Amino acid sequence: MRKFFIAGNWKMNYSISETVEFCRQFRVKGLNNISSDIVLFPPSISIQAMIKTLEDTPVKVGGQNIHQEFSGAFTGEISAEMLYDSGSEFVLIGHSERRQYFNETDEIVNKKLKIALKSNLTPVVCIGESLDQRESGKTEDVILRQIKEGFKDISETEMEKVVIAYEPIWAIGTGLTATPEQAQEIHNIIRNTIVEDFSPQLGKNLRILYGGSAKVKNAEILLSEKDIDGLLIGGASLKVNDFYEIIKIAEKLTKK
Ligand code: 13P
Repeated sequence: MRKFFIAGNWKMNYSISETVEFCRQFRVKGLNNISSDIVLFPPSISIQAMIKTLEDTPVKVGGQNIHQEFSGAFTGEISAEMLYDSGSEFVLIGHSERRQYFNETDEIVNKKLKIALKSNLTPVVCIGESLDQRESGKTEDVILRQIKEGFKDISETEMEKVVIAYEPIWAIGTGLTATPEQAQEIHNIIRNTIVEDFSPQLGKNLRILYGGSAKVKNAEILLSEKDIDGLLIGGASLKVNDFYEIIKIAEKLTKK
């Protein structure tokens, strides 16, 4: 059975002191018997403070972005090695906000994925269609293209480390959530594509997260779908009670 993966993408929210406060409140709720994988993605500047405040808990930390080159004259950027060195174990790659506002193409996503893997980071690769693409019946084509280009020249062994997040753009921060059936349909397409492109074993073990207005109210129905192995949560992960409630829902479903 695949272990649930519950992640919070904080985007550009919370200062270092707010992060420390969140983590203090989070840890007193009791984190030690959690069996799901829990990962928080704060802004890079808060990573070390978060790691320190969550020391001796099972919660892991990741970065929201890396540069695609190893090092060099790229003012303002952070490399995969630097992120790993900061204590991060994970990195988000190809979030739709980066594709949309920072012109990240599938080719750049592919380069970032390769460098993340070389630097021992576990990549969470985000894919998903826009509202226009969904309404014009192109969802499947978009997803297949993002997988084909994004995972180009990635070996099966490398792929074993990858987590995929399906985040329909129209559901991000809009309050509109994909129905469990809509999400399950795409998750199933993603899994089948990985089975065909890599192997049945890899497809079976691959964790596919859903993201887009995931919250306490819809976590259970989403996580109950066969191919939904976790959630990548934006807004609701900024509220310590909500994030913890969602973790409890995953734990309850694990024990079922
Ligand atoms: P919301 O949960 O705020 O819709 O954000 C989803 C997201 O983009 C997570 O990466």
